[in-house]
Amino acid sequence: MIVMVVGSGGREYAIGLALKRDKSVEEIFFAPGNGATLELGENVDISDYNELAQFAKERSVDLTIVGPEAPLVEGIVDIFKEQGLTIFGPSQKAALLEGSKIFMKNFLKKYNIPTARYIETSLMEEAAEFIDELSPPIVVKADGLCAGKGVIIAQTRQEAKEAAAKMLSGEAFGPAGERVIVEEFLDGYELSIFAISDGKDYTILPAAQDHKRLLDGDKGPNTGGMGAYAPTPLIDEKLYKKIEERIIAPTIEGMAKEETPFEGVLFAGLMIVNGEPYVLEFNVRFGDPECEVLMPLLKTPASELFYKAATKDLKSVDIEFFDKYAVGVVVASQNYPYGKSKPSEIIIDDIVHGDLKEHAHICFAGVSLIEGKLYATGGRVLVCVGIGDTIQEARDYAYLLTGQVHFAGKKFRADIAYQALQADVS
Ligand code: AMP
Ligand code: GLY
Repeated sequence: MIVMVVGSGGREYAIGLALKRDKSVEEIFFAPGNGATLELGENVDISDYNELAQFAKERSVDLTIVGPEAPLVEGIVDIFKEQGLTIFGPSQKAALLEGSKIFMKNFLKKYNIPTARYIETSLMEEAAEFIDELSPPIVVKADGLCAGKGVIIAQTRQEAKEAAAKMLSGEAFGPAGERVIVEEFLDGYELSIFAISDGKDYTILPAAQDHKRLLDGDKGPNTGGMGAYAPTPLIDEKLYKKIEERIIAPTIEGMAKEETPFEGVLFAGLMIVNGEPYVLEFNVRFGDPECEVLMPLLKTPASELFYKAATKDLKSVDIEFFDKYAVGVVVASQNYPYGKSKPSEIIIDDIVHGDLKEHAHICFAGVSLIEGKLYATGGRVLVCVGIGDTIQEARDYAYLLTGQVHFAGKKFRADIAYQALQADVS
């Protein structure tokens, strides 16, 4: 099988690695890929989706897998399908679950799927009226995609009103903030659940926990994610069942009823309040770095899983996972997430320790090849992934590997998976 992966981050690199160990995959293209995906396949520098579809046809690509949300929201799947190509990911309409928070909230309401109480509005008076009904903290969200920055947790009503006013005037996020959601604050702990669906059937992946804050102890600013691990012991059978019955199943059914069947990765960002799951957000793609810890746990060949999901045939595969844990530690550049850092060369020690070689690997993300050398050029540069029989073991391997990777200004959190280890379940 010839496979193309759209995207350039650690998530796409992880999908590439899973495809690489899949014997039925002969060739992998990355569009556009990064400085390290060249080791796994060929990078394709075509950004226009029609041209990319043409390329896929010319090179007999059997399956395209889309990593990031932007191409999905922009309709890459529709374009490829019109050309008769097989592509894994949601249509532009189904991608609205991530692309529009208002679409998502109204969908949840219609299908009785638990979420925070809210209003959606483009009027400041309405926003202010609802803010007065809620007790702080109060959550204000812009409707559209704002690169993860469109959510304000206001500590006072005044602050909530100011945030709403800034969004509605277009000052904060331009057109993405012309409509806003105001919602109650849910006080609990967060979980990410991923389901792969072919529009009708679905399979739920092991639960992962991300660490969004920059600094140890969940302090500092929000980032795209500084580390993740899976499966997390923060979920038990009972909760898993509730999530499936109350959230995943009705979402897949509801989207089919709306005639926008959801094909792809449904990423449910949940808040668990007193043992009850609520949807905070949906994403229509794998999380990053969650994907980096889920892919190595996949026992079923990756191409089979994605191909069957893209051809409405998920029920014919028995999807299996290894009975192991994976921990991923993001190694970021000096100024992440505040700004760009100077490119710096990456030096990786020869890994001589046999166990480490076998139990850990790097997923490259913000890296470029400059005159034959690998440089850290992005915010999140790479992810050190460890695999083990326990979370502790997986984490030890991941951290050992961080010590073998060097570039000026490298930084990482030292406490990935701390909640799981405190829970002492593994
Ligand atoms: P979202 O992009 O909607 O997931 O929001 C980003 C982050 O804001 C979430 O991961 C939560 O940490 C937080 N958040 C969003 N909505 C709420 C809410 N209603 N209650 C508490 N925290 C929230
Ligand atoms: N790690 C969170 C995300 O990908 O949105």
